[in-house]
Amino acid sequence: MKGSKKIIDEIVERYASDPGGLIPALLKIHETFGSIPEEAYPVLSQKFSATRLQILKILNFYDDFTSDPRKKNVIRICDGFTCNDKGSHYLMEKMKLMFETRKKMSVGQEIYSVESIPCQGLCGFGPIMIVNNQVYIAVTAEKADKILSEFFIEPTLPKNSNIKYGKNYL
Ligand code: FES
Repeated sequence: MKGSKKIIDEIVERYASDPGGLIPALLKIHETFGSIPEEAYPVLSQKFSATRLQILKILNFYDDFTSDPRKKNVIRICDGFTCNDKGSHYLMEKMKLMFETRKKMSVGQEIYSVESIPCQGLCGFGPIMIVNNQVYIAVTAEKADKILSEFFIEPTLPKNSNIKYGKNYL
C-alpha cells in the first residue's frame, strides 16, 4: 500500500517507548492494514529489539493476527459444546457449503473468512455467530441468512447441496 511505511513508522513510534508496546503496535498495524505488511517487520524488529522469528511467534500465538491481507469480514461460529448442541455445527456446515469449504472466499472485491471459535461464555444465548466484531445470538439457519445479507453476502447454497438442519433450527 502506498504510504504504508510512513503509517507503520507513526504507529510504531507511538508504542516504542513502552517496553510492552510490541503487541499493541502489532494490533494497531493489523487493524490499519488488515494484516502485518512485510515492511513492518524491520521497523518492529529495530524498535522493540525483537527478531522476525519472535514477532512471527506472537502472530501465530494470537488468533486475531493473520499474515493474509484479508479484509475485516470474518464470520466466526462458536464451536463450544452448548452452541454445538443447539445447532452451531449446522451453521458451520452451511457456511462451509456456501463458501465451498474454503477458509477464505471472495465476494466481489471483499474477502471473507469463516472460522470456528471456542466457547464465548454466552452459552445460554447460543448458537453464537460473530461477524467482524458484531455478536449475534440464537442464530438459526434462517437468521444466519438475514445476517449475511446485511453484509451483502448472498446466502446461496451450491446446487445439489443436501443440507439438513436440526428440528429446532429450520
Ligand atoms: S458454547 Fe457457544 S458460547 Fe458457550
